[in-house]
Amino acid sequence: MTDEWSPEAAASHGESAPFDTSVAHVARVYNYWLGGKEYFAADRAAGEQAIKAFPDIVLSARANRAFLARAVRFLAGEAGIRQFLDVGTGIPSANNTHEVAQSVAPESRIAYVDNDPIVLTYARTLLAGDPAGATDYIEADLRQPQQILAGAARLLDYGRPVAVMLMATLQHLGEADDPYQVVATLTAALPPGSYLALSHPAKDIDAEAMARMADSLNKMMAEKVTFRDRPAVARFFEGLDLVEPGMVQASKWRPTSESEAASPAALWGGVARKP
Ligand SMILES: C[S@@+](CC[C@H](N)C(=O)[O-])C[C@H]1O[C@@H](n2cnc3c(N)ncnc32)[C@H](O)[C@@H]1O
Repeated sequence: MTDEWSPEAAASHGESAPFDTSVAHVARVYNYWLGGKEYFAADRAAGEQAIKAFPDIVLSARANRAFLARAVRFLAGEAGIRQFLDVGTGIPSANNTHEVAQSVAPESRIAYVDNDPIVLTYARTLLAGDPAGATDYIEADLRQPQQILAGAARLLDYGRPVAVMLMATLQHLGEADDPYQVVATLTAALPPGSYLALSHPAKDIDAEAMARMADSLNKMMAEKVTFRDRPAVARFFEGLDLVEPGMVQASKWRPTSESEAASPAALWGGVARKP
């Protein structure tokens, strides 16, 4: 990521950031938890407050990335998916969707979507995929699924199956944003044989600590969070067929090692096929 804009490189060149750095933003707070370098003081402060409220958030964030990688490996492998719509991409980290998918099937095409301008500054990393496949980046808000579908049509062919990925992103839509309708709009546009893969912070795993963390994040972060319980997350999969082992704690979804399975992930995760 050395040729990208970054807080450290910008500071050493006396540049100011091309966006507001005084308020914490989730993509940067999440990068802080993941051990990255792409955050500012406000993000670190919000990240630390959240760690105080829920010390397992760091392991939980890592378990989410591991779930993302396993889900993409399944989709590109066993499920034979070659097109991905990854909404709420985040700042590039280890095992980005195109890297995992193209390591299985180099011809995979990945459309990335995020609404945070900082993620856009890293788009070059996301776009440097295998020449046999293709990647694209769309700056758009999940609350406008039609705009996302229209933008991603530059790259994706909706006549063939697509995997929609919503990893640790739907918690930023409150009930007033009609998140179930948003997900239904995305999957309705895709043909049978398409997939929905998602993870969602759990209101009912480590419930007290998660409630404390939600309060803390909602005081400090620009994007508010709504954590959901198991039935509320399961509702996102309505009308779709969950693949084994169903919707489970993200670390328990097809773990590849005992330590992966034992990770304290406070997230529900699942992958489902459109019949
Ligand atoms: C916690 S990060 C998850 C990143 C990545 N999907 C993962 O699981 O590792 C959430 C991401 O969702 C993005 N996001 C939040 N609200 C969004 C919205 N309304 N539309 C698009 N992206 C959004 C944030 O900018 C951030 O990059």
